[in-house]
Order: sequence, then structure tokens, then C-alpha cells
Amino acid sequence: MNDQQITRVPLIAGNWKMNLDHLQAIAHVQKLSWTLKDARHDYGEVEVAVFPPFTDLRSVQTLLSADRIPMKLGAQDVSPNSVGAYTGDIAASFLAKLETSYVLVGHSERRHGHGEDDQLVAAKTKAAVGSGLVPVICVGETAEDLEERGAAAVPVEQLNAAVAALPKDSEIVIAYEPVWAIGTGNSATPEQAESVCAALRHSLEEKFGSEQASRTRVLYGGSVNSQNVASILRLPNIDGVLVGGASIDSQEFARIVQYRKHVTAA
Ligand code: PGA
Repeated sequence: MNDQQITRVPLIAGNWKMNLDHLQAIAHVQKLSWTLKDARHDYGEVEVAVFPPFTDLRSVQTLLSADRIPMKLGAQDVSPNSVGAYTGDIAASFLAKLETSYVLVGHSERRHGHGEDDQLVAAKTKAAVGSGLVPVICVGETAEDLEERGAAAVPVEQLNAAVAALPKDSEIVIAYEPVWAIGTGNSATPEQAESVCAALRHSLEEKFGSEQASRTRVLYGGSVNSQNVASILRLPNIDGVLVGGASIDSQEFARIVQYRKHVTAA
């Protein structure tokens, strides 16, 4: 594939999961933005997004806009429906009103903890795109999948299902997150992550053509920290990282964002 001409801006995304209430969220984002300001971080060179719990979104949005912090906001989930009698759900249009740019769909903690299947993930993906949000489509194999079918088969199937009903040219981000690597301290090797991310991009190319596949960012997630991030982001098909645990610590997350400044031995 010829994607040499297209430059993809790396995306460093922090998935806070169910951590930090809205008061803690404000303090956290303030510290993070001060640290990045001191380091003269260029948000145009390396994009930064945080994915707080729903109850924090309004507070973080207000802070980002009042202090003109060019950090992007993401949500952790979205309803497949628009409005109506769906107790507990949050519509994509509500998130868009809060200047939320991104939303996670298909995170393994939702697939496994809440029984979300490929069909529901596809419906959420479509709802997000329909409201102008960029879905971050999370895919990844379990340890058993890895043993039985290799690393790429399940993530590619999950991706194909999620984008099946999407119009061409929809902006999406893909996050390859091996389930066995999430929250375990065992990240995939950079080579394995690269080979699955390349397979995911190839599958996008088959569906949407090479231009769109070359533009789409494919992230890696699963035990990313400031020690391993630089070696992961050296690879050509990996355009950013989705960080869980290490995104709760503002100093550690700031170090991850500044991965270009530190070269690791890994
Ligand atoms: P982790 O989580 O960085 O704590 O492994 C990643 C994720 O679940 O998105």
C-alpha cells in the first residue's frame, strides 16, 4: 500500500475508565496541561485526548474551553439509539453538544463485562458517526483466540463487523488492544502490534480503498507506559496509543505524550 504521502498525526488517548470524579478530573487535566505547557508541547504535532467518565465530561469541557487547552475530549461509551425511552443511556448527539470529539466503542471491558456483541458495536459506531463523533473502534483477541487463531483473525473480524454499515469516508480511529495485554503489565511486542495494525489497515483498504485506509489512524493499547511507548510508536502502521492505567497519573501520561523526547532501549 502506498501511504507514504499521507501524514497521520499521532493520537495519544487516555481512557480513564471508572476513575476520577469530576473534581479530581479538573485537577488532573489542569496538572496535565500545565506540564505539557511547560514542556512546550505542540498539540498539532501530537494530538492528546482524554476519555473521562460521563459525569466528568461537562467539567472537563468547561476547563478546556475556558483555558483554551487544545486537548480533545472523548467519551467511553454511547447509545446506539438517538433519543427516547432508554434509561441510563447517553445519546451521541448529547456528547456532540458537549464538544466531545471521540467515543470509544467495542472496548473489551464492554464486550466482556456487558456482553456487547459485534452487532451492537456496529450500531454504536454508526450512531457516533451519525452525530459527527469519531468512534475509536476497539478490537482485540483474547489469550485463547491468540492460541487458536493467531493474533490478527479476531481483531480483523471485529473491525469488519463494526464498519460494515458505515458510509465510505466516515472518519474513524481503530484501537488494537489485545485483551490479554490490557491492565496486565504485559504489552504486545512492537512487532506483533505492528503486524496486527497492518492487517487492520489492509482490511480497511479492502473495504474503503487505499486513500481512506492511509488516512485512518490505528492505535495500539494494552499496558502502554512511558517506558514502552517510544518503541511501539516507531512502527509504521501504529499511529498512536490508547492508554488506560497510566493515563490516571498526569505526570506519567505527560511523559507518554512526549514520547518523541525520550528514546527507550526497548
Ligand atoms: P491499560 O488499558 O493501559 O491499563 O492496559 C488500556 C485500555 O483498556 O484501553
